[in-house]
Amino acid sequence: MSAQLIEGKKISDSIREELKQEVEKIKQEGITPGLVVILVGEDPASQVYVRNKAKACEQLGYYSEVVRLPAETTQDELLKLIDQYNRLSTIHGILVQLPLPKHIEEKAIIDAIAVEKDVDGFHPVSVGNLMIGDDTLLPCTPSGVIELLKRTGNDPAGKHAVVIGRSNIVGKPVSMLLLRENATVTICHSRTPNLPEMARQADILVAAVGVAKLVKKEWVKPGAVVIDVGVNRLPDGKLCGDVDFDEVSEVAGWVTPVPGGVGPMTITMLMANTLKAAKRSSR
Ligand code: GUN
Repeated sequence: MSAQLIEGKKISDSIREELKQEVEKIKQEGITPGLVVILVGEDPASQVYVRNKAKACEQLGYYSEVVRLPAETTQDELLKLIDQYNRLSTIHGILVQLPLPKHIEEKAIIDAIAVEKDVDGFHPVSVGNLMIGDDTLLPCTPSGVIELLKRTGNDPAGKHAVVIGRSNIVGKPVSMLLLRENATVTICHSRTPNLPEMARQADILVAAVGVAKLVKKEWVKPGAVVIDVGVNRLPDGKLCGDVDFDEVSEVAGWVTPVPGGVGPMTITMLMANTLKAAKRSSR
């Protein structure tokens, strides 16, 4: 293997240490960052995520609430609950775990969260602010990707970044953030002709499509930085990314593993957003 490993867990731990110190400071001013996580139904993956979010809050000394609601909860009931948390001054961040049961319209729920408490960065106003370049709460996984790049000395400025995937949660926002960091950005997707050739132009290649081991070594320019946002489960139950890690690490300069790369950054950036929202609430 020639590529250097981008150790998301280590980077995430060091950011959490930084956050802890900031939390101590803000607590002396009488503010404890507060996050509520709302889970509707019993999706097993969501239950794990929610537990991990609550654990991170505890580790950093945040106030947290977890609201577990039955799958039959109506959209109106959920909207009422969000409205209550929008008004509650001890809560600075509201996260409604997705996916929601089919009878609830995700967009209506996301739109109802107060923008200043939108720690997921999914609200249309947050998305608009990101486009304009205004200071706003940024979506967690994309901002985690930027942190991984910067903290390994891979500043995107002047680089050609190729993003594979155009989802609202990762592909589009990470492209905007890379642009904001002065990269030249190409967004590729399922209808892009010659995907391997496009990918090979990248100094920074971000894969966020959800296709196991899609990115092969021929897709990667020697020395490129490869960020794998994919989390796919193989038939044998193991997790793997969108990048064929074993062969890509022979040619890449840097590569993120799955698990242990981008994944650990997401909750850490959620914690950073909650702290930011808490700080802003006191201004
Ligand atoms: N489900 C999977 N990832 C996420 C996320 O980043 N935010 C929310 N709210 N739900 C998710």
